Amino acid sequence: PLDHYDIDPVTGFVPSADPLERLPPRYDPWEGLVPSIAPLIRSGRMRAELAQLPCLGLDDLWSDPELERALLILTTFANAWVWGGSEPDLKIPGTIAMPLVDLAAKLDRPPISHYGSMVLHNWRRVDRSRPVSADNAQMMIGFLGGVDEEWFYLASMGVELAGAGLLASIREAAIASHEEDDEDLTRKAQRIVDGMEPVIAALERMREWCDPYIFYHRVRIFVAGWPAPGVVYDGRWTDPRRLTGGSAGQSALIQAIDAVLGVVHDGTATGKFFKEMRTYMPRRHRRFVEDVERVSRLRSRAETGSETLRRAYDAAIAQVDRFRLAHRRIAHDYITVPSGMAADAIGTGGTMLAKFLDDARQETSRLAFDGS
Ligand code: HEM
Ligand code: ALA
Repeated sequence: PLDHYDIDPVTGFVPSADPLERLPPRYDPWEGLVPSIAPLIRSGRMRAELAQLPCLGLDDLWSDPELERALLILTTFANAWVWGGSEPDLKIPGTIAMPLVDLAAKLDRPPISHYGSMVLHNWRRVDRSRPVSADNAQMMIGFLGGVDEEWFYLASMGVELAGAGLLASIREAAIASHEEDDEDLTRKAQRIVDGMEPVIAALERMREWCDPYIFYHRVRIFVAGWPAPGVVYDGRWTDPRRLTGGSAGQSALIQAIDAVLGVVHDGTATGKFFKEMRTYMPRRHRRFVEDVERVSRLRSRAETGSETLRRAYDAAIAQVDRFRLAHRRIAHDYITVPSGMAADAIGTGGTMLAKFLDDARQETSRLAFDGS
Protein backbone atom coordinates (compact mmCIF):
# COMPACT_ATOMS: atom_id res chain seq x y z
CA PRO A 1 0.00 0.00 0.00
CA LEU A 2 2.44 2.74 1.07
CA ASP A 3 5.17 1.53 -1.29
CA HIS A 4 2.92 2.55 -4.22
CA TYR A 5 3.68 6.05 -3.07
CA ASP A 6 7.44 5.50 -2.70
CA ILE A 7 6.97 5.66 1.05
CA ASP A 8 9.10 3.46 3.26
CA PRO A 9 7.68 2.46 6.67
CA VAL A 10 10.94 3.39 8.39
CA THR A 11 12.33 6.29 6.36
CA GLY A 12 9.08 7.80 5.05
CA PHE A 13 9.60 10.08 2.07
CA VAL A 14 13.38 9.67 2.38
CA PRO A 15 14.46 6.82 0.10
CA SER A 16 15.27 3.69 2.09
CA ALA A 17 18.22 2.82 -0.16
CA ASP A 18 21.34 4.97 0.05
CA PRO A 19 21.44 7.46 -2.83
CA LEU A 20 23.96 6.74 -5.56
CA GLU A 21 27.29 8.44 -4.92
CA ARG A 22 28.67 8.52 -8.44
CA LEU A 23 27.30 8.36 -11.99
CA PRO A 24 28.73 5.96 -14.61
CA PRO A 25 32.17 6.96 -16.04
CA ARG A 26 30.73 8.71 -19.07
CA TYR A 27 29.53 11.40 -16.69
CA ASP A 28 32.95 12.02 -15.15
CA PRO A 29 32.96 15.61 -16.46
CA TRP A 30 29.93 16.36 -14.24
CA GLU A 31 31.19 14.34 -11.29
CA GLY A 32 34.62 15.92 -11.59
CA LEU A 33 33.20 19.36 -10.82
CA VAL A 34 31.15 18.26 -7.81
CA PRO A 35 33.97 18.26 -5.20
CA SER A 36 35.14 21.71 -6.42
CA ILE A 37 31.84 23.61 -6.40
CA ALA A 38 32.68 25.54 -3.22
CA PRO A 39 36.19 26.68 -4.20
CA LEU A 40 35.04 27.50 -7.73
CA ILE A 41 32.19 29.69 -6.47
CA ARG A 42 34.47 31.29 -3.90
CA SER A 43 37.08 32.22 -6.52
CA GLY A 44 34.55 33.39 -9.10
CA ARG A 45 35.41 30.58 -11.53
CA MET A 46 32.29 28.45 -11.33
CA ARG A 47 30.64 29.69 -14.50
CA ALA A 48 33.84 29.42 -16.53
CA GLU A 49 34.19 25.77 -15.51
CA LEU A 50 30.52 24.99 -16.12
CA ALA A 51 30.72 26.65 -19.54
CA GLN A 52 33.42 24.17 -20.56
CA LEU A 53 31.40 21.04 -19.83
CA PRO A 54 30.82 18.79 -22.82
CA CYS A 55 27.20 18.27 -23.79
CA LEU A 56 26.25 14.89 -22.33
CA GLY A 57 22.98 13.19 -23.17
CA LEU A 58 20.90 11.17 -20.75
CA ASP A 59 21.05 7.94 -22.72
CA ASP A 60 23.51 6.21 -20.37
CA LEU A 61 21.36 6.80 -17.32
CA TRP A 62 18.98 3.94 -16.62
CA SER A 63 18.11 3.33 -13.01
CA ASP A 64 16.16 5.66 -10.74
CA PRO A 65 19.18 6.21 -8.46
CA GLU A 66 21.20 7.31 -11.52
CA LEU A 67 18.46 9.67 -12.65
CA GLU A 68 18.15 11.09 -9.13
CA ARG A 69 21.89 11.69 -8.82
CA ALA A 70 21.96 13.35 -12.24
CA LEU A 71 19.03 15.61 -11.29
CA LEU A 72 20.75 16.54 -8.03
CA ILE A 73 23.95 17.44 -9.86
CA LEU A 74 22.32 19.35 -12.71
CA THR A 75 19.91 21.32 -10.52
CA THR A 76 22.85 22.28 -8.31
CA PHE A 77 24.79 23.36 -11.41
CA ALA A 78 21.80 25.48 -12.52
CA ASN A 79 21.66 27.34 -9.20
CA ALA A 80 25.46 27.63 -9.07
CA TRP A 81 25.33 29.13 -12.57
CA VAL A 82 22.63 31.69 -11.80
CA TRP A 83 23.81 32.71 -8.31
CA GLY A 84 27.50 31.81 -8.43
CA GLY A 85 28.89 35.17 -9.54
CA SER A 86 28.86 38.76 -8.38
CA GLU A 87 25.68 39.35 -10.40
CA PRO A 88 23.02 36.78 -11.29
CA ASP A 89 23.34 35.36 -14.81
CA LEU A 90 19.88 34.60 -16.16
CA LYS A 91 20.85 32.38 -19.10
CA ILE A 92 21.89 28.81 -18.37
CA PRO A 93 24.08 27.42 -21.18
CA GLY A 94 22.72 24.59 -23.28
CA THR A 95 25.28 22.06 -22.09
CA ILE A 96 23.60 22.16 -18.69
CA ALA A 97 20.13 23.38 -19.65
CA MET A 98 19.37 20.73 -22.27
CA PRO A 99 20.04 17.59 -20.22
CA LEU A 100 18.55 19.30 -17.15
CA VAL A 101 15.25 20.28 -18.77
CA ASP A 102 14.92 16.84 -20.36
CA LEU A 103 15.70 15.02 -17.14
CA ALA A 104 13.40 17.21 -15.04
CA ALA A 105 10.59 16.53 -17.52
CA LYS A 106 11.28 12.80 -17.36
CA LEU A 107 11.09 12.81 -13.55
CA ASP A 108 8.24 15.34 -13.50
CA ARG A 109 10.27 17.68 -11.29
CA PRO A 110 11.51 21.27 -11.69
CA PRO A 111 14.86 22.14 -13.33
CA ILE A 112 15.99 24.17 -10.31
CA SER A 113 17.44 23.16 -6.95
CA HIS A 114 14.52 21.82 -4.89
CA TYR A 115 13.72 19.86 -1.75
CA GLY A 116 13.06 16.55 -3.50
CA SER A 117 16.68 16.48 -4.67
CA MET A 118 18.66 18.59 -2.22
CA VAL A 119 17.13 17.06 0.92
CA LEU A 120 15.66 13.69 -0.02
CA HIS A 121 18.43 12.42 -2.33
CA ASN A 122 21.50 14.22 -1.07
CA TRP A 123 22.91 12.13 1.77
CA ARG A 124 25.34 9.35 2.49
CA ARG A 125 25.52 7.38 5.69
CA VAL A 126 28.62 7.97 7.81
CA ASP A 127 28.51 4.60 9.56
CA ARG A 128 27.17 2.01 7.13
CA SER A 129 26.35 -0.39 9.94
CA ARG A 130 23.80 2.04 11.37
CA PRO A 131 20.56 3.34 9.88
CA VAL A 132 20.25 6.71 8.19
CA SER A 133 19.49 9.64 10.49
CA ALA A 134 20.36 13.33 10.54
CA ASP A 135 23.28 12.44 12.82
CA ASN A 136 24.47 9.48 10.77
CA ALA A 137 24.55 11.26 7.43
CA GLN A 138 26.52 13.77 5.48
CA MET A 139 25.50 15.92 2.56
CA MET A 140 26.84 14.81 -0.84
CA ILE A 141 26.48 18.03 -2.81
CA GLY A 142 26.16 21.65 -1.76
CA PHE A 143 27.18 25.15 -2.75
CA LEU A 144 29.67 26.79 -0.39
CA GLY A 145 29.52 23.79 1.94
CA GLY A 146 30.32 23.82 5.64
CA VAL A 147 28.42 22.51 8.61
CA ASP A 148 25.68 25.15 8.49
CA GLU A 149 24.67 24.38 4.91
CA GLU A 150 25.07 20.66 5.49
CA TRP A 151 22.88 20.75 8.58
CA PHE A 152 20.26 22.86 6.82
CA TYR A 153 19.64 19.90 4.50
CA LEU A 154 20.25 17.18 7.08
CA ALA A 155 18.00 18.67 9.76
CA SER A 156 15.29 18.92 7.11
CA MET A 157 15.85 15.27 6.30
CA GLY A 158 15.61 14.62 10.04
CA VAL A 159 12.12 16.13 10.01
CA GLU A 160 11.14 13.78 7.17
CA LEU A 161 12.56 10.78 9.02
CA ALA A 162 10.79 11.82 12.22
CA GLY A 163 7.55 11.95 10.24
CA ALA A 164 7.95 8.51 8.68
CA GLY A 165 5.63 6.79 11.16
CA LEU A 166 3.01 9.49 10.70
CA LEU A 167 2.45 8.54 7.08
CA ALA A 168 0.87 5.20 7.95
CA SER A 169 -1.25 6.92 10.62
CA ILE A 170 -2.37 9.51 8.09
CA ARG A 171 -3.41 6.85 5.63
CA GLU A 172 -5.20 4.79 8.27
CA ALA A 173 -7.08 7.80 9.62
CA ALA A 174 -8.16 8.79 6.10
CA ILE A 175 -9.50 5.29 5.46
CA ALA A 176 -11.11 4.97 8.90
CA SER A 177 -12.93 8.26 8.32
CA HIS A 178 -15.26 6.26 6.05
CA GLU A 179 -16.24 3.77 8.79
CA GLU A 180 -18.88 4.56 11.36
CA ASP A 181 -16.62 3.73 14.31
CA ASP A 182 -15.90 6.91 16.28
CA GLU A 183 -13.73 5.17 18.85
CA ASP A 184 -11.46 3.67 16.22
CA LEU A 185 -11.22 6.97 14.38
CA THR A 186 -10.42 8.76 17.64
CA ARG A 187 -7.54 6.33 18.25
CA LYS A 188 -6.25 6.99 14.77
CA ALA A 189 -6.50 10.75 15.14
CA GLN A 190 -4.66 10.41 18.44
CA ARG A 191 -1.83 8.63 16.63
CA ILE A 192 -1.44 11.69 14.43
CA VAL A 193 -1.26 13.84 17.56
CA ASP A 194 1.47 11.63 19.02
CA GLY A 195 3.27 11.30 15.69
CA MET A 196 3.67 15.07 15.42
CA GLU A 197 5.75 15.22 18.59
CA PRO A 198 9.04 13.90 17.08
CA VAL A 199 8.44 16.05 13.97
CA ILE A 200 8.35 19.23 16.03
CA ALA A 201 11.42 18.13 18.01
CA ALA A 202 13.31 17.39 14.77
CA LEU A 203 12.45 20.83 13.39
CA GLU A 204 13.91 22.49 16.48
CA ARG A 205 17.17 20.63 15.87
CA MET A 206 17.82 23.02 12.95
CA ARG A 207 19.22 25.35 15.58
CA GLU A 208 21.94 22.90 16.64
CA TRP A 209 24.32 23.23 13.69
CA CYS A 210 22.84 25.78 11.32
CA ASP A 211 23.74 29.28 12.43
CA PRO A 212 21.20 31.99 11.44
CA TYR A 213 23.82 34.49 10.31
CA ILE A 214 25.71 31.99 8.15
CA PHE A 215 22.44 30.63 6.83
CA TYR A 216 21.29 34.07 5.80
CA HIS A 217 24.53 35.21 4.19
CA ARG A 218 26.10 32.03 2.87
CA VAL A 219 23.44 29.37 2.41
CA ARG A 220 20.09 30.69 1.29
CA ILE A 221 21.40 32.91 -1.51
CA PHE A 222 22.10 29.81 -3.61
CA VAL A 223 18.75 28.13 -3.06
CA ALA A 224 16.78 31.25 -3.98
CA GLY A 225 14.33 31.13 -6.88
CA TRP A 226 14.83 32.82 -10.23
CA PRO A 227 14.53 36.60 -10.11
CA ALA A 228 12.52 38.68 -12.60
CA PRO A 229 12.24 38.40 -15.53
CA GLY A 230 13.21 34.72 -15.14
CA VAL A 231 15.86 32.38 -16.47
CA VAL A 232 16.42 31.21 -20.04
CA TYR A 233 17.40 27.54 -20.49
CA ASP A 234 19.46 27.74 -23.65
CA GLY A 235 18.49 25.20 -26.29
CA ARG A 236 15.20 24.36 -24.54
CA TRP A 237 13.31 27.37 -23.17
CA THR A 238 13.96 30.62 -24.97
CA ASP A 239 11.31 32.47 -22.94
CA PRO A 240 12.53 33.26 -19.42
CA ARG A 241 10.89 31.21 -16.66
CA ARG A 242 10.49 32.16 -13.05
CA LEU A 243 10.85 29.05 -10.95
CA THR A 244 10.45 28.90 -7.18
CA GLY A 245 13.50 28.45 -4.98
CA GLY A 246 14.16 25.61 -2.59
CA SER A 247 11.82 25.46 0.38
CA ALA A 248 10.57 22.80 2.73
CA GLY A 249 7.16 24.03 1.60
CA GLN A 250 7.91 21.41 -1.06
CA SER A 251 7.83 18.72 1.64
CA ALA A 252 4.98 16.27 1.06
CA LEU A 253 4.96 15.44 4.78
CA ILE A 254 3.48 18.70 6.02
CA GLN A 255 1.00 18.92 3.14
CA ALA A 256 -0.12 15.34 3.86
CA ILE A 257 -0.83 16.27 7.48
CA ASP A 258 -2.84 19.27 6.31
CA ALA A 259 -4.67 17.02 3.86
CA VAL A 260 -5.80 14.41 6.38
CA LEU A 261 -7.07 17.11 8.75
CA GLY A 262 -8.82 19.04 6.00
CA VAL A 263 -6.64 22.14 6.41
CA VAL A 264 -7.11 24.23 3.28
CA HIS A 265 -4.79 27.07 2.38
CA ASP A 266 -7.03 29.31 0.35
CA GLY A 267 -5.51 32.74 0.85
CA THR A 268 -4.31 34.58 -2.23
CA ALA A 269 -0.65 33.91 -1.49
CA THR A 270 -0.97 30.66 0.44
CA GLY A 271 -3.35 29.08 -2.08
CA LYS A 272 -1.00 29.70 -4.95
CA PHE A 273 2.15 28.60 -3.10
CA PHE A 274 0.83 25.33 -1.66
CA LYS A 275 -0.67 24.30 -4.97
CA GLU A 276 2.39 25.16 -6.98
CA MET A 277 4.75 23.41 -4.55
CA ARG A 278 2.97 20.12 -5.13
CA THR A 279 4.33 20.17 -8.66
CA TYR A 280 7.85 20.28 -7.13
CA MET A 281 7.29 17.07 -5.15
CA PRO A 282 8.35 13.64 -6.39
CA ARG A 283 5.40 12.37 -8.41
CA ARG A 284 4.30 9.57 -6.10
CA HIS A 285 4.64 11.71 -2.99
CA ARG A 286 2.41 14.27 -4.64
CA ARG A 287 -0.11 11.52 -5.37
CA PHE A 288 -0.10 10.53 -1.71
CA VAL A 289 -1.03 14.08 -0.69
CA GLU A 290 -3.74 14.22 -3.35
CA ASP A 291 -5.20 10.85 -2.38
CA VAL A 292 -5.26 11.70 1.32
CA GLU A 293 -6.90 15.02 0.52
CA ARG A 294 -9.53 13.38 -1.64
CA VAL A 295 -10.28 10.49 0.71
CA SER A 296 -10.12 11.97 4.20
CA ARG A 297 -13.40 12.92 5.80
CA LEU A 298 -11.82 13.26 9.23
CA ARG A 299 -12.87 16.84 9.70
CA SER A 300 -16.54 16.35 8.87
CA ARG A 301 -16.59 13.20 10.99
CA ALA A 302 -15.19 15.20 13.91
CA GLU A 303 -17.83 17.83 13.33
CA THR A 304 -20.73 15.43 13.66
CA GLY A 305 -19.10 12.71 15.78
CA SER A 306 -18.42 12.13 19.46
CA GLU A 307 -16.98 14.69 21.82
CA THR A 308 -13.80 12.61 22.26
CA LEU A 309 -13.28 12.45 18.50
CA ARG A 310 -13.66 16.19 18.27
CA ARG A 311 -11.15 16.64 21.07
CA ALA A 312 -8.64 14.37 19.32
CA TYR A 313 -9.13 16.31 16.10
CA ASP A 314 -8.55 19.59 17.92
CA ALA A 315 -5.43 18.14 19.52
CA ALA A 316 -4.09 17.26 16.06
CA ILE A 317 -4.80 20.78 14.81
CA ALA A 318 -3.03 22.14 17.90
CA GLN A 319 0.02 20.03 17.05
CA VAL A 320 0.19 21.35 13.49
CA ASP A 321 -0.19 24.84 14.90
CA ARG A 322 2.70 24.16 17.28
CA PHE A 323 4.80 23.02 14.33
CA ARG A 324 3.93 26.18 12.41
CA LEU A 325 4.66 28.39 15.43
CA ALA A 326 8.08 26.75 15.94
CA HIS A 327 8.75 27.18 12.22
CA ARG A 328 7.56 30.78 12.28
CA ARG A 329 10.13 31.51 14.98
CA ILE A 330 12.86 29.84 12.93
CA ALA A 331 11.99 31.96 9.89
CA HIS A 332 12.10 35.04 12.11
CA ASP A 333 15.45 34.16 13.66
CA TYR A 334 17.07 32.97 10.39
CA ILE A 335 15.75 35.56 7.95
CA THR A 336 14.01 38.53 9.48
CA VAL A 337 16.61 39.18 12.18
CA PRO A 338 19.77 38.81 10.04
CA SER A 339 18.14 40.78 7.20
CA GLY A 340 17.44 43.69 9.53
CA MET A 341 14.30 44.29 7.49
CA ALA A 342 11.54 43.52 9.99
CA ALA A 343 8.32 42.90 8.10
CA ASP A 344 8.95 42.61 4.38
CA ALA A 345 11.61 39.92 3.98
CA ILE A 346 11.03 37.53 1.06
CA GLY A 347 11.49 33.76 1.32
CA THR A 348 13.44 31.65 -1.13
CA GLY A 349 9.99 30.38 -2.11
CA GLY A 350 9.16 33.92 -3.15
CA THR A 351 6.58 34.69 -0.46
CA MET A 352 6.33 37.76 1.75
CA LEU A 353 7.23 35.41 4.50
CA ALA A 354 5.90 37.12 7.65
CA LYS A 355 2.36 37.47 6.36
CA PHE A 356 2.52 34.21 4.42
CA LEU A 357 3.57 32.09 7.39
CA ASP A 358 1.09 33.86 9.71
CA ASP A 359 -1.69 33.20 7.20
CA ALA A 360 -0.70 29.53 6.82
CA ARG A 361 -0.84 29.24 10.59
CA GLN A 362 -4.17 30.99 10.89
CA GLU A 363 -5.63 28.74 8.18
CA THR A 364 -4.68 25.85 10.49
CA SER A 365 -5.80 27.12 13.88
CA ARG A 366 -9.16 28.38 12.60
CA LEU A 367 -10.24 24.76 12.13
CA ALA A 368 -10.23 23.99 15.86
CA PHE A 369 -13.78 23.34 17.09
CA ASP A 370 -12.96 24.55 20.56
CA GLY A 371 -11.04 27.69 19.74
CA SER A 372 -10.28 28.54 23.36
C1 HEM B 1 7.82 27.58 4.23
C2 HEM B 1 11.83 29.48 6.13
C3 HEM B 1 13.18 25.09 7.60
C4 HEM B 1 8.80 23.45 6.50
C5 HEM B 1 8.83 28.45 4.54
C6 HEM B 1 8.89 29.82 4.13
C7 HEM B 1 10.00 30.35 4.68
C8 HEM B 1 10.65 29.34 5.43
C9 HEM B 1 10.47 31.78 4.54
C10 HEM B 1 7.86 30.52 3.24
C11 HEM B 1 8.07 30.08 1.80
C12 HEM B 1 9.19 30.86 1.14
O1 HEM B 1 8.93 31.94 0.60
O2 HEM B 1 10.35 30.40 1.18
C13 HEM B 1 12.54 28.45 6.71
C14 HEM B 1 13.85 28.59 7.30
C15 HEM B 1 14.23 27.35 7.71
C16 HEM B 1 13.15 26.44 7.37
C17 HEM B 1 14.59 29.89 7.42
C18 HEM B 1 15.49 26.90 8.37
C19 HEM B 1 16.57 27.64 8.51
C20 HEM B 1 12.10 24.26 7.44
C21 HEM B 1 12.08 22.87 7.76
C22 HEM B 1 10.84 22.41 7.49
C23 HEM B 1 10.08 23.52 6.96
C24 HEM B 1 13.24 22.05 8.33
C25 HEM B 1 10.28 21.03 7.61
C26 HEM B 1 10.75 20.04 6.93
C27 HEM B 1 8.15 24.45 5.82
C28 HEM B 1 6.82 24.32 5.30
C29 HEM B 1 6.53 25.51 4.64
C30 HEM B 1 7.70 26.33 4.77
C31 HEM B 1 5.92 23.12 5.45
C32 HEM B 1 5.23 25.89 3.95
C33 HEM B 1 4.44 26.78 4.86
C34 HEM B 1 3.63 26.02 5.89
O3 HEM B 1 3.29 24.83 5.67
O4 HEM B 1 3.28 26.61 6.94
N1 HEM B 1 9.92 28.19 5.32
N2 HEM B 1 12.15 27.15 6.79
N3 HEM B 1 10.88 24.62 6.95
N4 HEM B 1 8.66 25.67 5.48
FE1 HEM B 1 10.39 26.41 6.14
N1 ALA C 1 12.56 29.06 2.50
C1 ALA C 1 13.73 29.32 3.30
C2 ALA C 1 14.23 30.72 3.12
O1 ALA C 1 13.55 31.56 2.63
C3 ALA C 1 14.77 28.33 3.04
O2 ALA C 1 15.33 31.01 3.51
